Amino acid sequence: MSHSALAYRAHEDDDRKVSSKFEQITVESPEAGEVLVKVAYSSVNYKDALATTGAGRIIRGFPRIAGIDLAGTVVESADDRYAAGDEVVLTGYSHGESLDGGYTQLAKVGAEYLVPLPEGLSLLEAMSIGTAGFTAALSVHRLQQIGVSPESGTILVTGATGGVGSVAIDILSKLGYQVAAFTGKIEQSDYLKSLGASEIVNRHELELGTRPLEKGLWGGAIDTVGDETLGWLTRTVNPWGAIASCGLAGGIKLNTTVMPFIIRGVSLLGIDSVLCPMEIRQQIWQRIATDLKPVHLDEITSVVPFDQLPDQFGQFLDGSIKGRIVVKIGD
Ligand SMILES: NC(=O)c1ccc[n+]([C@@H]2O[C@H](COP(=O)([O-])OP(=O)(O)OC[C@H]3O[C@@H](n4cnc5c(N)ncnc54)[C@H](OP(=O)(O)O)[C@@H]3O)[C@@H](O)[C@H]2O)c1
Repeated sequence: MSHSALAYRAHEDDDRKVSSKFEQITVESPEAGEVLVKVAYSSVNYKDALATTGAGRIIRGFPRIAGIDLAGTVVESADDRYAAGDEVVLTGYSHGESLDGGYTQLAKVGAEYLVPLPEGLSLLEAMSIGTAGFTAALSVHRLQQIGVSPESGTILVTGATGGVGSVAIDILSKLGYQVAAFTGKIEQSDYLKSLGASEIVNRHELELGTRPLEKGLWGGAIDTVGDETLGWLTRTVNPWGAIASCGLAGGIKLNTTVMPFIIRGVSLLGIDSVLCPMEIRQQIWQRIATDLKPVHLDEITSVVPFDQLPDQFGQFLDGSIKGRIVVKIGD
């Protein structure tokens, strides 16, 4: 059976220039192993802004339905694990990149990529969290696993006003950590404090230093910025602290020495939400619905209608974004 759906698709022209537009598409019924999902919400992440505008070469294969995450309800299933009416969440696995993503009224996806919506979360909450919030929760989980506790010292969150940063501050402060917010938007200090930050670090006024080891300042960090900021973090995390490295908003380089690792026992934890194994993924979503559930999602999230999606990307590209943008797609 064929279904018609409105989707936001990326195209590439003969000069490899990428542009995206709304289109009416035809979606066939699912084949073995696939599930048809009526999308209720998707969200906008930094990667979506790069992908849909072509500012970053994220998409492999055109035309491509963009949107790296979605939450919705199964309408047809050709897989035993899901039945019509089931509520599901999808993040990562290269959806919106090399597989079609969430900016569509109907998404046909492989059942192996879906996570059943955990009890305690609504579809709207799931996308208020979305890929960015999942990444924040995974970062907190990894820091906890390696032994970073509230007694370890203040945790610094970089890119603080962004999606990952906002949710990370919220979760950490709920868990009883002292949180410092590293931001370029000092005018958003009240927002960051309302999420639970007790200290604001202005990234425009910071002296990064050059020594292999600087004064220890942080029990740990969640870093969305990379580059010189990440290098500085390795030099300023306390002995036996850890850094969850999850982003590159400031660049991809890492300039440091082995000294923080072999003299202070600092750990650098890689955070990858895209290929996070399903067992861990489900565990993280369970935690997001329970002990890691953010408490300030209403302040963090703005919900926009589907037709306003194209207006959202600029604020990610110029770094002026605050919090999370959810896209309401379904009725
Ligand atoms: N590893 C993974 O699986 C994974 C998953 C999701 C996201 N990410 C990455 O994590 C990063 C953050 O994602 P997001 O969705 O939170 O993005 P976002 O909402 O666009 O937020 C990024 C924040 O970074 C800060 N920033 C922007 N440009 C900067 C620059 N040039 N130098 C320093 N800081 C800058 C800004 O915060 P302030 O103004 O407050 O400083 C901005 O709000 C991105 O690099 C994204 O690709 C990785």
